[in-house]
Amino acid sequence: PLTARLEADGVMSVGGVRVDALAAEFGTPAFVLDEADFRARATAWRQAFADCDVYYAGKAFLCRAFARWVDEEGLRLDVCTGGELAVARSVGFPAERLLFHGNNKSLGELRAAVEYRVGRIVVDSFVEIERLAAVAAAAGIRQRVLVRVTPGVEAHTHSYISTGQEDQKFGFSLAGGAAARAVAAVLAESGLELVGLHAHIGSQIFDTAGFGLAAHRMVGLLARIRDEHGVELPELDLGGGLGIAYTSEDAPLDVEEVAERLIALVGKECAALGLTVPRLGVEPGRALVGSSTVTLYEVGTVKELPGLRTYVSVDGGMSDNIRTALYDARYTARLVSRPGAATTQVVTLVGRHCESGDVVAHDVPLPGDVRPGDLVAVPASGAYHRSMASNYNHVPRPPVIAVRDGTARVIVRRETEDDLLRLDADPPDPAVSVT
Ligand code: LLP
Repeated sequence: PLTARLEADGVMSVGGVRVDALAAEFGTPAFVLDEADFRARATAWRQAFADCDVYYAGKAFLCRAFARWVDEEGLRLDVCTGGELAVARSVGFPAERLLFHGNNKSLGELRAAVEYRVGRIVVDSFVEIERLAAVAAAAGIRQRVLVRVTPGVEAHTHSYISTGQEDQKFGFSLAGGAAARAVAAVLAESGLELVGLHAHIGSQIFDTAGFGLAAHRMVGLLARIRDEHGVELPELDLGGGLGIAYTSEDAPLDVEEVAERLIALVGKECAALGLTVPRLGVEPGRALVGSSTVTLYEVGTVKELPGLRTYVSVDGGMSDNIRTALYDARYTARLVSRPGAATTQVVTLVGRHCESGDVVAHDVPLPGDVRPGDLVAVPASGAYHRSMASNYNHVPRPPVIAVRDGTARVIVRRETEDDLLRLDADPPDPAVSVT
């Protein structure tokens, strides 16, 4: 994070708050979110994509306080479930600046979105076009929509998070002709107003070529729509996906460079086709929040297997970071509560869960004298960590602590065992009739 530094006694501070003080006050594990880091990135994106719509992708991390920051920073917000929409609604996020995604939005979710008057809904299937038209008609409004297109671009990332290629569940295929048919279907619905196209090719991407190819194909489709239907769609949303550095081996793209290239490319291609340049949209999640957060853990045990490996166990694990197990993601970690010995050892940082795949970080160099009670921080854990956290093994999920200018405040509290037990219906809840 921008404001992480080592204090004179070797203890790390984030946002001007020492991590030993954070651990003492809030316990571990904890997500420590540097508010200034997020806000600085929000500004950078808004400036790089001036005159474009920047939607923060709430799936990366969302809570009420954070939704307010997104609003304050003048960003828009991409939600993809009724739950994320509920967070936005609960803080009065301006409906016009919301975008609703999802390949299987329920009727209830569509109704809730229309009722709140979300600015745009991205339609993802023929069934949904009909469903949404009916919901809009019932509400007596005309709903603005984008059509989600799969442009046939292979993003070079993990297959679980790559979404541009043909063979996948999202959107309408460009090559197969479904995209053109979806456009016609939306245009035929009087309750729907087609404002543009959407494409998202994947996540954790380090190469602009894929974005460029997707943009090129989408502009081609815009021209075809003009030729066939006589309408020039005013918006083109190119999705999210810009990668961040998890380790020193990752070389993230510069947002200004990406913006410049995409804006120039779309401008040039539209000019060549005689198209009015659409307003561009982007949907960064990870790139806005991923680097803002460190996860703070306490070391519990150290197991040395001479000649083999050393396991350092911390008090969290796959319930707060599933990315290592799920995507074979790479992380770094560092001892942050004291200077530590100069000699380092390469260890496997593991969690407390009851399976051997419960690895927080592979092959991390830690001081040779790492020991129980030490605090270890894992950087770049702001995106898809708290939002993908689970209660595996009945482990309560960690809190999110926002730090800024030397003060810390809880923006998501730590779950308790009572929170977990409260969901159990046995013994019978007196409020529930069992007869
Ligand atoms: N827009 C759409 C339509 C998306 O599906 C996504 C991410 C984004 C925007 C934001 O992508 P970002 O800028 O954050 O890469 N859990 C995985 C990532 C899944 C991404 C899903 N969609 C991970 O931890 O790597």
